[in-house]
Amino acid sequence: MSEFSGKTILITGGTRGIGRACAAAFAKDGARVAICGRNDDAAQKAAQEIAAETNGEVRGFGCDIADASAVDAMVKAVSEVFGPIYILVNNAGITRDGLLMRMKSEDWSAVVDTNLTGAFNCCRAVTRDMLKQRAGRIINVSSIIGIRGQGGQTNYAAAKAGLIGFTKALAQELASRGITVNVIAPGYIDTDMTAFITEDIRKELLEKIPLKRVGNGEDIAAATKFLASDGASYITGAVLQVDGGLAM
Ligand code: NAI
Repeated sequence: MSEFSGKTILITGGTRGIGRACAAAFAKDGARVAICGRNDDAAQKAAQEIAAETNGEVRGFGCDIADASAVDAMVKAVSEVFGPIYILVNNAGITRDGLLMRMKSEDWSAVVDTNLTGAFNCCRAVTRDMLKQRAGRIINVSSIIGIRGQGGQTNYAAAKAGLIGFTKALAQELASRGITVNVIAPGYIDTDMTAFITEDIRKELLEKIPLKRVGNGEDIAAATKFLASDGASYITGAVLQVDGGLAM
């Protein structure tokens, strides 16, 4: 039996990419896994697939994390099905890249609303139950772009850097109640989000990665499991870079 057996975990954006790899890793270990995506059918379909692949307990919920009342309703539904949430992984995120001078206000807002306000909505919705349990793990998926910036991504960098400050403040609020709050900052990970990167740019990036490979969802899932584990109970407010050394 694993330490995650029977524990409830909510992973936002668990329908594909990094979130899906995390969902599979926790489902294999016997956790009760809730994933969400904007589209209800897609979330349920992905949950069924992950459950079949892992022989685990996985449910899908349709929810736009930028919508606070939808998040409250989803968290309530997850607790009703699986019991109170012990681990929250704020993974859902989007990009709308462009140079600042040409960036539309909608593209700024969409990225901040999803990547930063979405995490705020989810944390606020789960903390009541975590405070009652006097235990919990919150893991916020930022990015190395939130640490060092990137031209063409002012919106994304601002949201991801904001998530780091948010994490450190919340970690201080919740520490005395046995709840830890940490950040994972992935580097270049092979998912749909990075699928548009051309072969030339990919080669250039690989040159710059000291470990000489692109990351995958399993690399992030392993770090997430560590931060969610009992072994990480003395770690809070930390930023764990999982980037092959790219942002050293
Ligand atoms: P992806 O595009 O493959 O998956 C994103 C997931 O988020 C999808 O399941 C999508 O349905 C969900 N999502 C998006 N907006 C949502 C909303 N408003 N409400 C609910 N769900 C929503 O992306 P990927 O690569 O798996 O990224 C996951 C996280 O990791 C994101 O926060 C991303 O910013 C971050 N990240 C990814 C890197 C990469 O190289 N792929 C690098 C650094 C960070």
